[in-house]
This record gives sequence, C-alpha cells and structure tokens, in this order.
Amino acid sequence: MKNIVVLASGSGSNLERIIECTQNGEIPNTQVRLVVADRDCYALQRAKNHEISNQLIPRGKDFCEKLEEILPENTDLIVLAGFLSIITKDFAEKYKGKIINIHPSLLPKFGGKGMWGMNVHKAVINANEPESGATVHFVTAGIDEGEIIIQGSVPLSPNETPESLAEKIHEIEHKIFPEGIRRVLGK
Ligand code: GRF
Repeated sequence: MKNIVVLASGSGSNLERIIECTQNGEIPNTQVRLVVADRDCYALQRAKNHEISNQLIPRGKDFCEKLEEILPENTDLIVLAGFLSIITKDFAEKYKGKIINIHPSLLPKFGGKGMWGMNVHKAVINANEPESGATVHFVTAGIDEGEIIIQGSVPLSPNETPESLAEKIHEIEHKIFPEGIRRVLGK
C-alpha cells in the first residue's frame, strides 16, 4: 500500500477526488494517510468526513519543520492540492521527486509569484489566450518550475469570466490529478 499525504488550504475538491480515486481503485493500492492544512479550511472537514487523519499547522516560517515532525515515515508522495504556503528550499530538496503540485494554468505560462487563484484566470483572459488548463508538476525550490507530469487544456469561450474559467479548469484538474498521481507512483 502506498501512502499519500495531501496538503491543502481551500475547499479541497481535488482532495475529495483523490480520496475517491484511492477508494474506487482508479489510483490502486494507495491511501490518503494524512491531510495537513495551513489554515482552517473545508479540506480539513473533508478529511474528517472520510475519517482520515488530519492536522492544522498554521501558515508561517516553521510550517515545513512542523510538517516534517508529523510526516509518516512511510510517506511515498506529498501532494499539494490547492495549497497556498510556499514550501522551503530545504524541504523541496530533501523530498525531491516526492512532492507534486497542481497549478491552474498551462505552465510555464501564467506561473510564478502572484499567480494563484483568480489572479491566474484574470491574467489569462486579459492576455486573450485561446486556451488555458491545468498542470501537475514536481515541486522544486522555484515557484511552479518543476518538471511537468501531465497537463490538460480547455478552450476559452468568447464571454469567459475568471469564475467560469475557474470552473472549467477545476473539472480538468479532477481528471488529470489522479492520472498524474498514478504515473508518479508507477501504477
Ligand atoms: C485549484 O484550482 C488548484 O489548481 C489551485 O487551487 C485550486 C484548489 O481547488 N492550486 P480545491 O481546493 O482542490 O477545490
């Protein structure tokens, strides 16, 4: 059995999808062992609903140190699913190849500092891009810079709003995130 630890800061719809896929066999022989949030958020409630261990470590400089203290020894993969704190360089290097993130754009476009949440979708619309999407990638010390594992794209509609684009991208995320996890775990 492979063990995943999920880090989240928000509603946790990707977390929910990952849990579902570990339970229905779409991600075989894998369990979400622990959910860690850096703020009080609905993702924690989702973990509780599924009786999955969960922990709140408030955002701050010592987040990664505290995370290491509670990280199960047999953790195979750390999955950032809508996680808004920055992982330290030391932590990223120590767990190289074992941390992945999902970003709501077609990286390397619309990544980097300040490019999170609605900021990304607004920037995509303002740039008149014909398409956007989501990217699952390895986490390195640089923001949104690690090797790409899988991407999914969606066309922009003529009257696209940041909200409508966010919704479309969430759907894509729910498809490619489980697939990305499966690939990284070699399943
Ligand atoms: C996703 O759009 C993800 O790409 C971004 O944050 C959002 C998280 O959504 N990093 P949810 O909390 O999984 O619903």
